[in-house]
This record gives sequence, C-alpha cells and structure tokens, in this order.
Amino acid sequence: MSLVSLDQLGRLWALNTRDCTYVVAVELDHATGDALVLQKYWGPILPPQAAREAAAMVAGPGSPSGAGRHVTSFSRPGEIEELLPVDGGLRWGLPTLQVAVDQVRSLELRFVSASMVSEGEAEQLDIALEDRIFPIDVVLHARVYADSDTIARWVTVRHRAGGDAAVEVSRLDSGNWFIPDAEDYRYRAASGAWAEESQLQQGRLPVGELTFTSRQGITGHHANPWIMIDAGGAGEEHGEVWSVALAWSGSWRMTTTRRPEGGTAVTAGFGHDGVRWSLPAGAELVSPPILGLYSANGFGGTSRGWHDHIRRHVLPAGDEDRPVLYNSWEATGFTVTEPEQLSLARSAADLGVELFVVDDGWFGRRDDEHSSLGDWWPHRERFPNGLRSLFDGVRALGMKAGLWVEPEGVSPDSDLYRAHPDWTLHLENRRRDRKRHQLVLNFARTDVRDWALEWLDRLVTDLRLDYLKWDMNRPFTQAGWPDQRQGHDRVWIGHTRNVYQVMAHLRACHPGLRIESCAGGGGRLDLGILHHIDQVWPSDNTDPVDRQTAQHGVSQLYPANVMSAWVTESPNGNVGRSTPLRYRFHVAMAGVLGIGVDLTRWSAAELDEAGALVEQYKAVRRTIQHGRQYRLGGRPGAERSALQYVLDDQVVVLVYNPHGNAKSGPRWLRLTALDPDAVYEVAVGGDTDGVPGRLAANSRWQGSTLMAVGIRPTAWEPIGADHRSDLIVLRIRR
Ligand code: GLA
Repeated sequence: MSLVSLDQLGRLWALNTRDCTYVVAVELDHATGDALVLQKYWGPILPPQAAREAAAMVAGPGSPSGAGRHVTSFSRPGEIEELLPVDGGLRWGLPTLQVAVDQVRSLELRFVSASMVSEGEAEQLDIALEDRIFPIDVVLHARVYADSDTIARWVTVRHRAGGDAAVEVSRLDSGNWFIPDAEDYRYRAASGAWAEESQLQQGRLPVGELTFTSRQGITGHHANPWIMIDAGGAGEEHGEVWSVALAWSGSWRMTTTRRPEGGTAVTAGFGHDGVRWSLPAGAELVSPPILGLYSANGFGGTSRGWHDHIRRHVLPAGDEDRPVLYNSWEATGFTVTEPEQLSLARSAADLGVELFVVDDGWFGRRDDEHSSLGDWWPHRERFPNGLRSLFDGVRALGMKAGLWVEPEGVSPDSDLYRAHPDWTLHLENRRRDRKRHQLVLNFARTDVRDWALEWLDRLVTDLRLDYLKWDMNRPFTQAGWPDQRQGHDRVWIGHTRNVYQVMAHLRACHPGLRIESCAGGGGRLDLGILHHIDQVWPSDNTDPVDRQTAQHGVSQLYPANVMSAWVTESPNGNVGRSTPLRYRFHVAMAGVLGIGVDLTRWSAAELDEAGALVEQYKAVRRTIQHGRQYRLGGRPGAERSALQYVLDDQVVVLVYNPHGNAKSGPRWLRLTALDPDAVYEVAVGGDTDGVPGRLAANSRWQGSTLMAVGIRPTAWEPIGADHRSDLIVLRIRR
C-alpha cells in the first residue's frame, strides 16, 4: 500500500493497494476556472512513472482536447470521470452533490489544498475545495489500507460558520467511480424480496442510468448496495472486475451511468429523491464511505477481496470463530416459556450447541405480533420471576446466552407508545399507517436513543447476555419529526447513525457482547452495519435449496463468518420441501452454523446424526469462516455445485447435488488454489466404495492431481436420491 504524490505541484497522486493503482488528479477547467477532480486510472498496479504517463495520456474534460470523446454543444461526456460531478457548471449528468444556497443551485468549486496523512495501517488523501462565492467547503477523502485491495472514499460538505445563508443539500453521494473504457459492459448485482433475498442478477449494462435503491430507511430486501462491472468476458476465476459498495444501512441509491458516447461510472450515496437536509452555518454533513475494489481474478477474486477487507477492516471482531447457535423462533414462535426453552436448551447442549438464543415473545404482553414492542420487560405471565433463571439454566448447560430485541420498533398497543406517541416517526396531520401492526421509533431523537441505550444496557447487564439478535421489522413511512421543522428529513440519516451509536456504545460497555443484525430476515446487510455487528440473518426462508441461492448471492460480497445459517425442520415451514438432515446441515455449514428446530421432535437417530455433524463443523469452521472461498461447479441450488475453502494447510469442500436424476454434467470436480507439489491427505472423505476418484479417508493425493483431474464426489453420481451432499476435508501432509 502506498499513497504517492506524482508531481511537484501536489495535484496528482497514485493510491496503491496490494494489486491495484488508482490515480487522481486536480485539473483546471480552462473555460470556467473551476477545479476538476478526476480519476485518471483504476486498474492493475503501476509503478509511479507509468502512473504519471497514464495520467498524461488521459486528457481531462477541461483540457483543450476534451476527454478524448466526441463533444457537442449538448454534451460534456468527460464529467463522468470526475470523482464528484456536482450540480453546477456545464454538466448534464446525474449530480452527485446538489446544494442550494439561498435557493440558488449550482456549485462552482475551486481547489484549495490537498493533504496526505498516515493513520496506522492506512494512508489518506484529502482534497479540499470551496465554492467561488458561497460559504460551502467540500472535502473529498480517499483511503488505502496496507493489507487490502479496497479503496475507501467519502465526502464532507461544510457550511462555513459566520454567514446567514440558507443551505439545503438534496443529494450528497459518497463518490463517483469511473470504470475504464471497454467495448461493452456487464453488471452483476443482488435483488430479491422477503424470504427471497440476495438473488444474483447479471446483464448487459444499458446505455442510460441503472439505479438500485432503498427508500425504506433500512438497506432493504429488494436490492443490496453493491455492484460489479466487467467488460462482458470475466468468469468466476478470470477477467477484470470493478466493484463498488456503499457502507450505509438506511435509504440509499446507487446509479450506474453508461453514456451514449462511451464511458461508465457508478455513484452511490445515502438518502433518496425528495429528501433534503438543511445545513446551518458551522455545520457539516459527512457521507458514509463508498468502497471500490478492482480484481484481475474474476468474480471469485473480487469476492475474496471483499471478504478479506470485511474481516480485517469492517467487522469489530472479524477474526473470531463464531459459535454454533440455537434459536427458538421456528420451534416455539411467540410462545416462549421457561420450561420449554430449558428443555430445548438441554437438547441443544447435548448436540454441542454453544450459544442459546431466545427469540421474539419474551417481553411485555407479546403473545403475537399485535402488541408490546417498546415494553422491554419480561412477560409477566410467562416469566413471573423474570428471565434470569432461564439464562442461568442456559449457562449451567455450558452455553452462552442470547436474546431477541427490536429496539426501533414500537407497537401502538404498548405502554411506551401510550406514554410517548411523539417518539415515533410521523408527520403532522398525517395518518400513522401500520405495518406488521407496528410503527418505527424516531431514533434520531436523542431522548429515544438514550432510552434505548439505557434499557439495552440494563438488559445485557442483568441477564449477563452474550448476544443480541437486533431485529427491525418495519420500513419507514410517513417519516418526519414535527418538532424539527428545519431538519425534518434528517431523520433519514440521524436514525441510522444513532442505531450505529447505540450498538457501538453497547459494545464498548460490554466488550464480550456480540450482535446479529436482522430485518425481517436479510433486510439490513451492508458494509455500514457490519462495522457494528458480528453476523447477519440473511433470510427467513430456511429451505436449504432456496438458501443455497441466497447464500450464493450473499457470498459475492460478504464472508462466510457473517452469514448465520440454521438447520430447520423438514418439510420446510416456508416452502414445504423435504430434504435430508445431512443436506440441511451441509448447506448451513457454509456459513455460521445454527439450529432452529423443535429438537424435542427429532428422533434419537436424527439427534445422533446432528450431533456428529455439529462436531464435524467445529473441526472445519475456522477454515470455512476465515478461509479463502472458491465457488466451484454449477448454479447453487439448481445444479451440482461445490464450495471450497482454503486456510493454511486445511482444505474443506462442500459438495451439493439437488437432483436425483443428474445424468448430464461433469463427473469430476476439479479443486483449485492448492499447492501443486504438496501431498494432501484426506481427513474426511467420501464412501470407500472403490470408485476411482472417490476420496477414501486417509488416502493421499498430489495437489496437481486434485486440480488437473479432480475428484468424483459421491453426491455427484448421476443417479441417486434428491439432495445429496458431501463434506470433504484435506490436509497437507508435511
Ligand atoms: C423477523 C425475523 C425472524 C424472527 C421474527 C420474530 O421476522 O426475521 O427471524 O425473529 O422476526 O418476530
């Protein structure tokens, strides 16, 4: 990693990650005198002289030759190469910063200064600009890390103190990323819905603007704030891919523009259309970070780059092994009682579970979803003596203790709402429409934030909780804050920031506390929330076949150690599909293994098999949760597929075949990223039925054989039962 100044004037820099260079220049627009902050290069690593040459070859849009694209009186295509093309001057593209000063829109920014700072493992470039007349300062920040291939950028907008202008920001993106020229472009992104999150979509990028967004106040189920772009030819393990992700858990918008004259760029930021933030004198607005990652190693290399970065620089405890958990939701629903939970806890402990989580139904008069959110004390009928003895019982069984909460939710039928109806998001003279019979608390209010912090802190302290499942089941609507007329729309930012703050405070007060993010399943998964939590509940749909598709989508950006995955009942409660226990376990083992089933209904044989699978998972979880992941085979859930994880000397392969009749397709599964000269010994293998290529336990294979020829997993045999799977574990023999 390095941040290098490339010229005497201090207007040209190279930001180098391990494998990539990003070149930024400040140029003068000769026609207007405005500063243009331009991306000159983003691709494979370049030495300084080559980076200088790259910058010299790419003329900026303000230079006499334009940006080398066809310019007419009606277009200025080079604006797409700016780091933050603002609403102002000769620009017609999508503005990334839109500010009105005394109702006058159109910024005219001049260069002020640039500075380079080192901060531990990171180096940062700050480029300061100011409006020619208005009291507006803008700082563009960019940061590189010693052990990561991502570049983080963000923006500060400041209303200089002293004036009395009315400043209103209607858009502040975190940054625009230009994707180098290519004949064609293809995008990859995740879309979905409740119980169908993280579905991968891929297509040719149309000329025009393609927007993914959430207007829900949460990240959302229907899109996730990341995109990958390639020139059409990248594959799983080859080809160049440029990807961008936004670190924000409220409403957001990401737009990819492909211009008719050529050129593509991605910009993203918080907020959505129609939301405005007023900025009093002396105040500033800081955008959330947007991160970019270039990889020359296809989509697989891109995913591994993100996984590394998230584990090292985003997660608060990224290097920790996550425990095997049990969650009561699918077993008991809202009917949470001490005897029943303790009986489940005993069975869970027998299986080797390490963390027992009590889900919804323990508080207020919560017998169903109609009431009690906000009344965070133990349900008086079900827990007349509180929850302490339940969790003491859980701990006596050798497990950690976790509890479900939904701090941002409030039921109109609750003591909290009756006492503080003004604490919800609402607008004067407008209805408060309900969804899941609930409203949303306005976390932007400091009294609401402090109230949440107080009861959460008390709960964690009193019950000695190790884990919170923090849910959020109601998107924002009618979102306002009538007491704050000026900053009305600030709730969209302030709410999310204060959720982060409460989580951060709780963690600071309780260093052992771990948090799971959930929003009706996978509605809040993004790089922003991951900064404050440990794992995410990716979907309420726990059917293993559907889950494979969702996990494939999640794995594009997010590492296995953030992905909670439960084994639940068969037939599955969501979709009615029956699957073998082994398949359910093998799918859940691709993330952080959990169990969410009524264990009292499992036979002795099922419990034995489950116990053995939990033990197997514990032996390989370090490799799965922290190893480098390779996606092998066909489409997960639809075809034969496999996942390979490599960490130090251990290789773990999870193999899946959803279809009994799978006569076509490859017999051999070629492994990858092994040491070709090493000898691998099979620690856990397939059946010893003498089939060539089957990996019998204790057999030994050359790394090059396993990569060039492959293995023949039992699960991939052409005819057999539906839903077959294998776990194979190899270790280098020294
Ligand atoms: C949401 C979550 C579930 C469960 C319920 C409880 O739907 O996604 O896992 O916690 O809430 O009400």
